[in-house]
Amino acid sequence: MASTNDDRFNRVERYNALMDVIRSRMTNRAFAPYDVPKEHYELIVEAARHAPSGANSQPWHYIVVTDPRVKERLADRIIAEQSRRAKLGMKFPTPNYKGMATAPGLIVIVADFRFVRAFPVLNDGSELDQRYKQNAERILLQSIGASVMSAHLAAAALGYAVWWVTAIGQEEIQVEFKPALGVPDELAIIDIMCFGPPLNPSYKRWKKRLDQVMSYDRFNMANFLTDEQLDQWIKEERARVMYRDESKVD
Ligand SMILES: Cc1cc2nc3c(=O)[nH]c(=O)nc-3n(C[C@H](O)[C@H](O)[C@H](O)COP(=O)(O)O)c2cc1C
Repeated sequence: MASTNDDRFNRVERYNALMDVIRSRMTNRAFAPYDVPKEHYELIVEAARHAPSGANSQPWHYIVVTDPRVKERLADRIIAEQSRRAKLGMKFPTPNYKGMATAPGLIVIVADFRFVRAFPVLNDGSELDQRYKQNAERILLQSIGASVMSAHLAAAALGYAVWWVTAIGQEEIQVEFKPALGVPDELAIIDIMCFGPPLNPSYKRWKKRLDQVMSYDRFNMANFLTDEQLDQWIKEERARVMYRDESKVD
C-alpha cells in the first residue's frame, strides 16, 4: 500500500478519531431528561444500516419508541423479568432497570431469524442440516450485533451514554410487546437500545489487556480458563467487572 506521509497522517488521525468514539462508548443505566431530535435517531440508524451482514441479508429493523407509556411498560416488564430470574436462583447481578422508563432515546431492535435460510444450509431437516443451521444462527446473531454496535457507536459519537439491553426474557415478552409495537409474529424482538445524556457521569469499565485477548498464529494457552477457573470468575469477578470503574478493578 503506497502512501505519502500525508496519507499516513490522515489514517492515524482517522483511527484516533474512531478510537475516541469507541473509548467514549460507555454503558450508563440512568439518563437525564432530554428531547432527542428526530435527526439523531436517523443518524444512529443510518450507522446501523451500513453494517455488514451474512449474505448481505440485513436481517434487522429498528423501531424508535417515543411514547413514554410504552417505555414505561417495557421497563416494568423487564424489571419483572429480573425478579423472576432472582427467584429462579440465577444469581446474576441485576442492574437497576428503572432508568429505561425515562430513557430519552429508546430503540427496539427486531431480528428476522428466517434469514437463517439464506445462509449455507440444506433446508431438508436432516441432522447435517441442523448442524449447518447452528452455524447459520451464529451468522445471523453476528450480523445483528455488528449493526447494533454501529448504532451504539453513532450514539456515542453524538455524545450520548448508551445501554444495550438483552434481558428481555423468554417468549412471553415477545407475545406481549409485538402487538404493542406492531411487530409481525415471524420476527423477534432481540434487544433494546437506550441512550441519552447520563444522569451521573459514565465511567470506563475494566477491559482485558491486549495480550489477554490476542495472540499470533496459535491460541495463547496462558489465556485459557479451565471450567473451574471460569466458575471462579463468575463467582468472584463478574459483579466487580460489570459495575466497577476500571480504575477500581485491580
Ligand atoms: C450483547 C450484550 C448484551 C447486554 N445485555 C445487557 C442487559 O441485558 N442489561 C444491562 O444492563 N446491560 C447489558 N449489556 C451491557 C453490558 O453489561 C456492558 O456492555 C458491560 O458491562 C461493559 O460495559 P461498557 O459497555 O461500559 O463497556 C449488554 C451488552 C452487550 C454487548
